[in-house]
Amino acid sequence: MTETPLLELRGLGGGYPPISVFRNIDLSVGMHESVGFFGPNGHGKTTLLKTVAGLIDPWEGDIIFAGNRLNAEGRMRARTSKNLNYDLFRKRRIRAETVVNAGLIYVMQGNLLFPEMTVEEVLDIAPLAAKGRTGITAMRQRVDDLFPRLQERRGSKIRYLSGGERQMVSIAVGLLALPQMLILDEPTLGLSPKLRIELAQAIRKIRDSRVPLIIVDQNIEFLTGLVDRLFLFDHGSITREIDSGSMPKHAEIMTMMFGEAN
Ligand SMILES: Nc1ncnc2c1ncn2[C@@H]1O[C@H](COP(=O)(O)OP(=O)(O)O)[C@@H](O)[C@H]1O
Ligand SMILES: [Mg+2]
Repeated sequence: MTETPLLELRGLGGGYPPISVFRNIDLSVGMHESVGFFGPNGHGKTTLLKTVAGLIDPWEGDIIFAGNRLNAEGRMRARTSKNLNYDLFRKRRIRAETVVNAGLIYVMQGNLLFPEMTVEEVLDIAPLAAKGRTGITAMRQRVDDLFPRLQERRGSKIRYLSGGERQMVSIAVGLLALPQMLILDEPTLGLSPKLRIELAQAIRKIRDSRVPLIIVDQNIEFLTGLVDRLFLFDHGSITREIDSGSMPKHAEIMTMMFGEAN
């Protein structure tokens, strides 16, 4: 990649003190690039993304977005108190608000939405995260075009939606924040194959509208065709980078990650 990166992670490490979850993450994502992460459950993909999103403090390394460092400089200091609530009053080293204001928008794993609100109510408040960015009306129109199903369900409370519909709302909420870059954490979790294909079509349209994406998914067929590069993630580290031209099949990737026995 030759162009100036939009997102750069330099030597990023982090976790849930005192447990280190990921380390030495070096990554550059270009202005018009989409990248994927694939790896086993519980190996730290979500923890890495939550750190990038400013929800968890990085221990070391830097998160640079559009040329600005989003985290406090230096390494996280060792624990200085035995108080059990220490992590609650430890000074934060990154703020989610800074990240959102910069336009780096993270759509969490698991469709965490407000169950008692209607689809329409959720979509109406979502642009609050767009802060100074312009283009809400056009994006709302785009979201309606991308997910016609949400128009039909607009009066329904979130708790009555199917998993697929909730996922659509989650992605719509991310889009209505007018992202400079959108991070999708396991968007196909729990979806039927048919819905997965529908969602892939919608995400391809988002990518084609030049919103750079980071997508984590357990389904390699889903990622193929959506990303320019794929990173294999194993035990808290990026272990391999694969170009979109040589995307493996599911069976091949299992062999790459777990050896011939699989
Ligand atoms: N809030 C938390 N507190 C402590 N440990 C956690 C927390 N969330 C996840 N973990 C642990 O961190 C590790 C990485 O989890 P996660 O980042 O969710 O992995 P992945 O997204 O790759 O499935 C796991 O061992 C998990 O149990
Ligand atoms: Mg995860």
